[in-house]
Amino acid sequence: MALEPAALAGPVAVLGFGHQGEAQALNLRDAGLEVRVGAREGHAAESRARARGFAPQPLARAVRGAATVAVLLPDDVAPTLWPELAAAIEPGATLVFAHGYNLLARTLEFGAAQDVVLVSPCGPGRVLRQVVERGEGLPAYLAVHQDATGRAWERAEAYATALGCARARLWRTTVREETEVDLFGEQTVLCGGMNALVVAAWETLVAAGYSPEIAYLECVHQLKYLADLLHERGPAGLRDGISGTALHGDLTRGPRVIGEASRRAMAEALEDIRTGRYAAELAAEAAAGKPLVRERVAAGRRHPIEAARRRALGLPEPEAG
Ligand SMILES: NC(=O)c1ccc[n+]([C@@H]2O[C@H](COP(=O)([O-])OP(=O)(O)OC[C@H]3O[C@@H](n4cnc5c(N)ncnc54)[C@H](OP(=O)(O)O)[C@@H]3O)[C@@H](O)[C@H]2O)c1
Repeated sequence: MALEPAALAGPVAVLGFGHQGEAQALNLRDAGLEVRVGAREGHAAESRARARGFAPQPLARAVRGAATVAVLLPDDVAPTLWPELAAAIEPGATLVFAHGYNLLARTLEFGAAQDVVLVSPCGPGRVLRQVVERGEGLPAYLAVHQDATGRAWERAEAYATALGCARARLWRTTVREETEVDLFGEQTVLCGGMNALVVAAWETLVAAGYSPEIAYLECVHQLKYLADLLHERGPAGLRDGISGTALHGDLTRGPRVIGEASRRAMAEALEDIRTGRYAAELAAEAAAGKPLVRERVAAGRRHPIEAARRRALGLPEPEAG
């Protein structure tokens, strides 16, 4: 059973005020907890935290005296800051992570008296905040990495309750399952798969001579309405909400588009995650200054689908520079 936030007993330091950090800090504060935000000086997160009514401090100062420390920094950044942070975090503090990436890879060292838990909300930070503002909650995955006190599960549940997640459902899992499933989901469906699918479909229509704007509205813009239906009703329920023509196309063409080749690519992606090949690739990319990410993100911004989007939706041209 989920416990009251009071079980956390003491100030919570939230390190990082990005997608998760901002949402979690606001939800925890609304739950009545004393929240200290850690942000580096002179960067965007610091001023955003100030604008939200927090008094941000340098990370190593924010953790001093905190009973709970939520590490909501980018996964590739946390290990570089850890030696300084670990020295400042209280020996008996509970450490909370939103993703098991660094826990599974064992890139961080923890004190023997520290509980280390995973509380991973099932959705982006923006949604985590919006649902709480509506008086609802987002489900969360919970796992225990290190149970120093025998109360690690209780503390994970108390933290998730303060985030509002117990209003939905708390799922007990393991660090390994959360990390591997999360990476697989974002690579093959939620980010990688979805983006590659819509761009490939748009390119197919445009190469066949169709209007780029109509192709955008059909293959990209409308995705939200169908994703909402899928979210509300599941795969079988979605089929009750579409026309008979769409249904026949779904049943006959869908399995061809996502056929054997795609299933093999999914199995390979999972294998890369499970063997650590993906983590090694990500670490090498980060060590080299992220050249692949920079080049592909820039190419994506120059892709003609972006101009088609602006024209289709009547949006202004971006400013040069
Ligand atoms: N994105 C999501 O919704 C989501 C969902 C579930 C779990 N998670 C997990 O939540 C954690 C945080 O992810 P996120 O997406 O919220 O991260 P993020 O928004 O990319 O970054 C978090 C914050 O870290 C700060 N930061 C970056 N480099 C820093 C440095 N060297 N020193 C100090 N601060 C630094 C950034 O602020 P400045 O650059 O302005 O300093 C930023 O506000 C990760 O473990 C992630 O896997 C995220």
